Amino acid sequence: MARHWMRVGSIAAVLVVCLLVLASINLLRPDGTISKPFGVAVPEESHEHEQTNRPQDKQQDEAQQETPATDKLPNLDQLLDEQTKTSTPESTAGPTSGLAAEASPTTLSKAIVMGKLTREETDWVGEALPEWQNAIYVVDLPTNATSPTGLRTKINKSKEAMPYLTYIIDNYPANFPDLMVFLHSHRKGYPQAWHNDAKDYDAVNMLHDLRLDTVMERGYVNLRCVENPGCPDEIRPWRDPPNPEKLPEQIYPYVYADFFNLPLSEVRKQVEVVATPCCAQFAVSRAQILKRPKEEYERYRTYLEETTYDDDTIGRVLEYMWHIIFGREAVHCERASTCHCEVFGRCSSRSSNHGLRKGSGGG
Ligand SMILES: *[C@@H]1O[C@H](CO)[C@@H](O)[C@H](O)[C@H]1NC(C)=O
Ligand SMILES: *[C@@H]1O[C@H](CO)[C@@H](O)[C@H](O)[C@H]1NC(C)=O
Repeated sequence: MARHWMRVGSIAAVLVVCLLVLASINLLRPDGTISKPFGVAVPEESHEHEQTNRPQDKQQDEAQQETPATDKLPNLDQLLDEQTKTSTPESTAGPTSGLAAEASPTTLSKAIVMGKLTREETDWVGEALPEWQNAIYVVDLPTNATSPTGLRTKINKSKEAMPYLTYIIDNYPANFPDLMVFLHSHRKGYPQAWHNDAKDYDAVNMLHDLRLDTVMERGYVNLRCVENPGCPDEIRPWRDPPNPEKLPEQIYPYVYADFFNLPLSEVRKQVEVVATPCCAQFAVSRAQILKRPKEEYERYRTYLEETTYDDDTIGRVLEYMWHIIFGREAVHCERASTCHCEVFGRCSSRSSNHGLRKGSGGG
């Protein structure tokens, strides 16, 4: 009888070991694509007040009805990689993604990049997040004025895209910290900061939770995990008939063609749907930024300076461009529960394997 139970016990032990091994493989996949946690569906953490639509947007709903066509998508990463391969600089300054996993999150240098209107209050950044450097660009100053933060954009156009690109261009290539987070100026609360995917919609909570090792491994993470708005198919450039209320969607392929130096006919072949959670807040590693030459970022900014499309429209187009600029597929929608776990360490019991991943727990 005792022998029987020993047998059962050792079989159970072997099963547990297998599961742990599988779990660590699952989490350690090095490319940007994360496999779903194995096992049954994991219920999402409850976000009591989760807002599924932009307070200011009424036109989101209809897009949610259609079926995403992710399986039909060509591989844009590949295309973009090929495009930039010849001019990709050696990344002498930054950690490569291979080394990144070894860097300790506590020793990483990190910065917050932000645009603000003069009237917006951003003292909270330095006060609540002193362990982060910050670069805060005032976007609406008259041409001859100096900025109280020491940083400004030349023009007030295309929303956060202008300060984000200005920061990248001004600091390329030697002045980047290991990791950067691109943020909006509203700290917290609903509705001002409704897009922050954290307790009290608070960006400070969001950054405290942010797993820097995940950012370093992936190179880019969207700071919003909640899939709405943005997923599964926010931008359908070839919608027939066109939706007159979705101007950003209609001009998207023209901007894309210009950004990536492609004829429109190529864009037609390559881009069917573009989707990612909304709102243009993300984290990137230095190594990821350096995968594109400075000239490309300059070309994007020149486009923004010269375009005649209005601020809102071009700003919205860029919102759905960053993930592609930073090497993701056009449809970059992962399960919110996976994203919450991997990006913010908010794991339901089924997927909380982080001890293993850091080598501190089960070793
Ligand atoms: C700057 O642009 C914003 C829109 O992003 C607008 O609300 C604001 O009035 C503009 N300010 C100036 C001084 O042009
Ligand atoms: C900036 O320019 C405006 C008009 O263009 C002028 O009235 C103002 O005095 C200038 N300010 C400074 C600090 O030069």
